[in-house]
Amino acid sequence: MSEPKFEPRVFSGAQPSGNLTLGNYLGALRRWVAMQDEGLETIYCVVDLHAITVWQDPAKLAHATRELAAAYLACGLNPARSILFNQSQVPAHAELAWIFNCVARLGWLNRMTQFKDKAGKDREAASAGLYVYPNLMAADILVYHATHVPVGEDQKQHVELTRDIAAKFNHDFGTPFFPLAEPIIEGAATRVMSLRDGSKKMSKSDPSDMSRINLSDDADTIAQKIRKARTDAEPLPDSLTLLADRPEARNLLTIYAALAEQPPETVLEEFAGAPFSVFKPALAELAVARLGPITARMTELMADPAEIDRILGDGADRAAAIAEPILARSYEIVGLVRSRQI
Ligand code: AMP
Ligand code: TRP
Repeated sequence: MSEPKFEPRVFSGAQPSGNLTLGNYLGALRRWVAMQDEGLETIYCVVDLHAITVWQDPAKLAHATRELAAAYLACGLNPARSILFNQSQVPAHAELAWIFNCVARLGWLNRMTQFKDKAGKDREAASAGLYVYPNLMAADILVYHATHVPVGEDQKQHVELTRDIAAKFNHDFGTPFFPLAEPIIEGAATRVMSLRDGSKKMSKSDPSDMSRINLSDDADTIAQKIRKARTDAEPLPDSLTLLADRPEARNLLTIYAALAEQPPETVLEEFAGAPFSVFKPALAELAVARLGPITARMTELMADPAEIDRILGDGADRAAAIAEPILARSYEIVGLVRSRQI
């Protein structure tokens, strides 16, 4: 099978389930903005259909969807350059996901670590949607023939599954129709850890709000969370290798370096020998300086939800215009008869 050439196209998304964290910002959003500003074709989605794989209060889901869209805009995504929309408004995602439910193998899904983490001990009680979630994610990406998927480290396995699905579809139907999308895991902080436990990733769904910095936190809250962040008693060393078995200290250093847009080595040159009583206030000041304007802009945007809906609706129209012909061709390849004249 000869490989057709796919034009570069970027797709990514985040779930509107709770507050966006510093991890989302450093691991994903900041990269999305950079790719947009490099002039690539970029499509960014608020994945509301993914959010409902665990129960969401309907009023809160609607609010979180608009708030996440506001965060996208406040971080620098520009609707004139990127397509911004919420997933449920483009039904082609869910339609292609059904086909992928029939392509992906149970054995593949059984290996997904995010399902194991989210389902926890009582797997029997998890929704069927949570289990097939990676197939919907593959559809999100492939319904646009997207080639590049900027994500944090935790999503690598899902993008690899997307490649497996594309390859199996192409093989089973004998046509190189879907691209093998590449995960783009770049930047200084592809895995920001919890402020309370250096072995767990910072997550919107952690029960402890002290474990994360939310983009909606005010300056005092950010300073307090950093002051209370777990660390050890040693001062900062002069070399990165000495942080290898100090995960909490390493995490704070990584966050500082990412926010300052400097290599961690440079930050260590400045702070070698400094105790956390010196480093933490410096980190808090930097975090407030970087995140404050984003939070302020989000608040402004949230004052006009109708405008957010307008931006999302316009994005959905543009997204659907790309997705629908790709879905129609997928139906044809599979042999589904399009009998209605539309
Ligand atoms: P989610 O919050 O799960 O919808 O994730 C949205 C994006 O943020 C995905 O690309 C994740 O990989 C990324 N992300 C989430 N948490 C972190 C973290 N702690 N560190 C780095 N990236 C993250
Ligand atoms: N599963 C991703 C997460 O939890 C969100 C997501 C859904 C996504 N569809 C996607 C990311 C497509 C990249 C591309 O973070």
